[in-house]
This record gives sequence, structure tokens and C-alpha cells, in this order.
Amino acid sequence: MDKSAEFWDKVADKYSKDPIADEVSYQKKLKITQGYFKPNMEVLEMGCGTGSTAIVHAPYVKHIRAVDISLNMIEIARRKAEAEQIKNITFEVSSIDDLNVADQSMDVVMAHSVLHLLEERDAAIEQVFAMLKPGGLFVSSTACLKDSMWFLKPIIPIMCLIGKAPKVVTFFTVNQLVRSMRNAGFEIVYKWLPGKTKAVFIVAKKAE
Ligand SMILES: C[S@@+](CC[C@H](N)C(=O)[O-])C[C@H]1O[C@@H](n2cnc3c(N)ncnc32)[C@H](O)[C@@H]1O
Repeated sequence: MDKSAEFWDKVADKYSKDPIADEVSYQKKLKITQGYFKPNMEVLEMGCGTGSTAIVHAPYVKHIRAVDISLNMIEIARRKAEAEQIKNITFEVSSIDDLNVADQSMDVVMAHSVLHLLEERDAAIEQVFAMLKPGGLFVSSTACLKDSMWFLKPIIPIMCLIGKAPKVVTFFTVNQLVRSMRNAGFEIVYKWLPGKTKAVFIVAKKAE
């Protein structure tokens, strides 16, 4: 099994029970995202984890395709959606690299707390750009560890060896992330950094 999937499978149960680290910022990000939604929208969420965000957003859009590399995360997500009788989310086990999404088929793509876990961040952002319809939005929340948590870099491989960190954790700054998005063709329409060590929330738009 893929090493990343193995790590996230192991932590899925605990992850689903842990409280959200910054509930106030999370709620604000949900509200801002919902401000862009329309009832006829097709949405993709990459790295959906246990589905909490997709479940909150589902009533505001037509359909959400929510994918994650970890089967255990997806199984928890499916159970949660079923318990809440949410019928317009399709949960799927897939790595972002293997995703098969038709070009220009999505209105919104979301990636929360996942871009820093990808070996090929730029390729993923380019992939998102291709998936979006003209005028489509890429909504992401990302820990930019190089800005304020750079000291973790030598520690991560040790944590990974003892099963306390995923295999891939990449370090980049908010500016580098913004540059990656602009290089892919996006215009940044909203950017919010709730605090020095917090995840940056970005809404990026593909031109009409
Ligand atoms: C930190 S969790 C975030 C989960 C959720 N988005 C949230 O905000 O609560 C990262 C998630 O990304 C998934 N993930 C990591 N690498 C992935 C990849 N290459 N493709 C798809 N999912 C991936 C993990 O399985 C995990 O569920």
C-alpha cells in the first residue's frame, strides 16, 4: 500500500474524533466558500478526509465528488454522510495523482490541508486549473510551513520513521503558493491568513 495512505488509514479514527484546531477560522472559511456556491454547481474536494467539510457544503450545491487516498477516511466519511442523510456526495478512494476528471467539468475544486502533503504541488494545481470550467474557483486552505514552522523540517523525517508524520510533507511559503497558483493561470480573488502559524485560505479563479 502507498505509504501516505497507510499513515492516513492509521490516524483516520483519531482524526475524526479530534476537535477542529481553530473552529472560528474554520467557520469563517465555510461561510466565505458558501458565498461562492450556486445550487447547480459541480464540486470536487481533493483530500476530503472524513468528509466534514463536504457534508456541510453539500446542501448548497448540486453534487460533490469527494476523494481521498485513505480508505479508512472515506469509510468514516460515508458513514457520516449516511447518518446525516446527505445524498449528493460521492466519496471515492483515490490519490490526487490518479484522479480522472474531465477538463472544464468542475465549477469549484476544494483542497483543504492537503497541498502541503503532495510531492508535486505545482502539477496538482495545474491539474485543478484544467478541471475547472472558465470562471471556476479553486478554494484551498494550506499550512505554509516555510513561513513560520521551518524548524520542523529536520524533525519530520524522524516523526515519519516512528509513524507520527506522513511520508510527504513539503515546506513552502504563502508567497510561493500564490506564485504556483498564478503560474498555473489563476487569479487570486481572496486570501486570508488568520494568524502567523495558521493555514492560509485562498480562493483562486480561472478566467471566464
Ligand atoms: C490533514 S488531512 C485533511 C483532511 C480534510 N481535508 C480536512 O481539512 O479535515 C489530509 C488528508 O489528505 C489526504 N491525502 C494525503 N495525500 C493525498 C493524496 N496524494 N491524494 C488524496 N488524498 C490525500 C489524507 O488521506 C488525509 O485525509
